[in-house]
This record gives sequence, structure tokens and C-alpha cells, in this order.
Amino acid sequence: MARFGILTSGGDCPGLNAVIRGTVLQGTKVHGQEFVGFKDGFHGLVYGDVVDLDRTAVQGISSQGGTIIGTSRFGPYEPDGGPDNIKGVLARLGIDAVIAVGGDGTMAAANRLLTDGIPIVGVPKTIDNDLNATDYTFGFNTAVEVATEAVDRLRTTGNSHKRCMVLEVMGRHAGWIAMYSGVAAGAHAILIPEQPETLEQICEWVLSVQDRGRSPMVVVAEGFTFPHMDEAHSHKGLDGFNRPRLGGIGDILAPLIEEHTGIETRSTTLGYIQRGGVPSAWDRTLGTRFGQAVSDLVADGQWGQMVALRGTDIVRVPFAEAVGNPKTVPLDYYRGARAIFG
Ligand code: F6P
Repeated sequence: MARFGILTSGGDCPGLNAVIRGTVLQGTKVHGQEFVGFKDGFHGLVYGDVVDLDRTAVQGISSQGGTIIGTSRFGPYEPDGGPDNIKGVLARLGIDAVIAVGGDGTMAAANRLLTDGIPIVGVPKTIDNDLNATDYTFGFNTAVEVATEAVDRLRTTGNSHKRCMVLEVMGRHAGWIAMYSGVAAGAHAILIPEQPETLEQICEWVLSVQDRGRSPMVVVAEGFTFPHMDEAHSHKGLDGFNRPRLGGIGDILAPLIEEHTGIETRSTTLGYIQRGGVPSAWDRTLGTRFGQAVSDLVADGQWGQMVALRGTDIVRVPFAEAVGNPKTVPLDYYRGARAIFG
């Protein structure tokens, strides 16, 4: 019987458990496959640390946030890792191929493993929705719902105190969460990594809102930069994939707005609230479809492919199409929203 190992790698994301369940149900019911989960991402693959994933293990998990098999930003080429060790682990555990569920960094690592002879396929995951080759990733919809509710809530407290409110949301390379939540909740300015804006411009928007007797609401993505900044603000060091840990631009922006406009301004960083908790119905559905499709993919032995959403169809794309080129907010789309800021 064909046996596969699933791992979830990188930041967690609402809908991961739906992927795991969808894969196991499709695999066991339709293809007669068996599954194990590698614990904590590539760490479990490198050290052969697995848990059995049968039908009972995945009962009722679609509605749960996080991932039942754990995740990490541990790379497969860390000391102790590498293709020879991983081939040995797969042979010892009788595993035919690896299903890697992750974002850009995970797909890049999977692509390298493929080149080094490891049979591996992918499922795209990120709340940031910035993975190329798929129209949407699961987790994004939940994050947008959480961020939209946060903007709605901040607007009522901002209105009560006649304050300017700033909400910082996640979005490292792409401002999708900021755009969708900001537009949905009627923010007066949305600041995204793709388009630097000057403080003068932001203050102009804020003042024009105040002139109409309203309380300004600004949504800023963590990766936003002012024109003079070479890279996104980071003061927390590097993550496990050696990327700067972002977060804090909202706290920099708020006092600047207050200083330049004289409007009392407060900042809130939404942070991990966007990643945790119950996945939306949309994310559970997409996760389940991705899971079923990846079971079909390994049944066909199509190594080096990733499942993706194109329109309403689930398709297969090579890893190479997904990595190294983030899917950013098109500038026309941003300019359209920007036309009614203020
Ligand atoms: O990649 C998704 C993401 O949510 C980014 O927006 C954010 O920069 C990053 O994860 C933070 O993740 P962690 O602190 O878990 O490394």
C-alpha cells in the first residue's frame, strides 16, 4: 500500500487541519493510501519523528485552527538534514513521498529537495495570500475577516474619542490583508508594501477626514515603507528562515501622524490574532479541496507539482512557478482604492 508523509511548515494558518483531513479522507477512501504526519515541519522529516494519520486521527479537525502535526521554520538542509539523510528516513519508515504544506520558503525548500531526488509535492499556504501560481491560499479569508472586525471595532472607539486610529496587519511582501480588510471596513487610508507613501500624503488624508467631522482610520501592512526606507521596519531580529521579523510600523506611524496633524492618534498591532482560531467556512472548503487534490496528485506520482486554485478550479503547477516571485497587489487595483482615500 502506498504510504505518504505530510508536513506543515512555516507560519501556521487557519485551514491546515482541513488540508490534512481532506488528504487522509480522499487517500484512504478513494486511493487506498496510508499517511503519517511529520511532526513540526521539516524537523520531523529530518529526524524521522512521525505520527500515524488514519481516519480516526483526523476526525472533526477541519474546524480547528493551527495544525495537529505542528509546524516550524526548521529547514531540511539544517545540519543533520540533507537529501541522503532524508532518503534514509523515508526508506526506514517505508514512506514513498512527502506532501509539504507551506508558503514560499517551504516550496523553495521542496523544489531543492526534488532536485536532490526526493519525491515531493506541495500544497500552498499563507495568510498573506502572496504565493504565486494560485489565485488564493486558505487562511487569507479568515485573516481578512479577523482584520475587518478589528477595523470595525477600532472605528467605534476612534469615533467616541475623535481620535485617529491606526491598525497594523500582517503582510510581508504583499498588502492583500490590508487591502481587503481596509476596503471592507471603509478605512480612510490603506498602506501596503507595494506602494510607499509619504507622511505628508498620509496626513493630508487624515486631515481631510477630520475636516468632514469624522475620525480617521488607517490600515497599514507590516511591510509598508516610507519612500526613504530601503526595507521594511524590523527590530526583532531574524526568523528561522533568516528573514527579518517584521512588525512595529504602526507604532512608528501613529506618533508621526499625531505630531504632524495635532490629532490624537492610537495604534494597534493585530499580530497573531490573524493566524489563530477557527478557520472560516471558505478556508475549510479550500483546504479540504486542496487536500483531496494532493491525494490525487501523489496517486499519479506527479512529483514536483503543487496544487493551486485558478478561478474555481483546482489545478497542478510546477514548484518553479510558485517560488521566488511573490504575488503582490496590482498597482492598478491599489490606485483604484487610493482614489477615494481621505
Ligand atoms: O508569512 C506569514 C506571516 O504571517 C507574515 O505576515 C509575518 O511576517 C510572519 O508570518 C510572522 O511569522 P512568525 O513570527 O511566526 O515567524
